[in-house]
Amino acid sequence: MAVRRVLRMGDPRLLAVAEPVPESAFDSAWLHALVEDLWDTMRARGGAGLAAPQIGVGRRVVVFEVGRLPRYPQADPVPATVLVNPVVEPLPEHGWEGAWEGCLSIPGLRGWVERPARVRYRAVDVAGRPIEREVGGFHARVVQHECDHLDGVLYPQRMRDLRRFGFVEELAEAGLLPGPRP
Ligand code: NI
Repeated sequence: MAVRRVLRMGDPRLLAVAEPVPESAFDSAWLHALVEDLWDTMRARGGAGLAAPQIGVGRRVVVFEVGRLPRYPQADPVPATVLVNPVVEPLPEHGWEGAWEGCLSIPGLRGWVERPARVRYRAVDVAGRPIEREVGGFHARVVQHECDHLDGVLYPQRMRDLRRFGFVEELAEAGLLPGPRP
């Protein structure tokens, strides 16, 4: 398929609310091609996840996968997942967790974002089969980050303290980012 251009913060398409994928498009060539482009683009750019609006497609589709990425050395692996029309239900009774986040639409920067530590999510896969999971840790973070893109929300909008927002090199030099410099 194809590595697509990733829109960057400032592009108004990143602020739009994406449309659901109609049932008639489940398992269609169009949806399979979109998902392949999301995987190709995410992997080419070394991301942990990507949402369709980030490649200019205003539909409710995200992909994510975390192996042992040098960019996220602290993260537990997350299985390769495609979510179509996801609904995320935060479980704030399990507390909140903070971590540094990055985004392929905001290259070179990281920000400290607090999010509910556990979530339940429901979606369908590319063929329309239901997916339901309750997750914590980095999996919960990445699904919240990616699904925020479907509502036009970028992680700086989730930050409570903009003093903890900066360039990767400077944050690494200051010893604030875990692991090797991405
Ligand atoms: Ni992002």
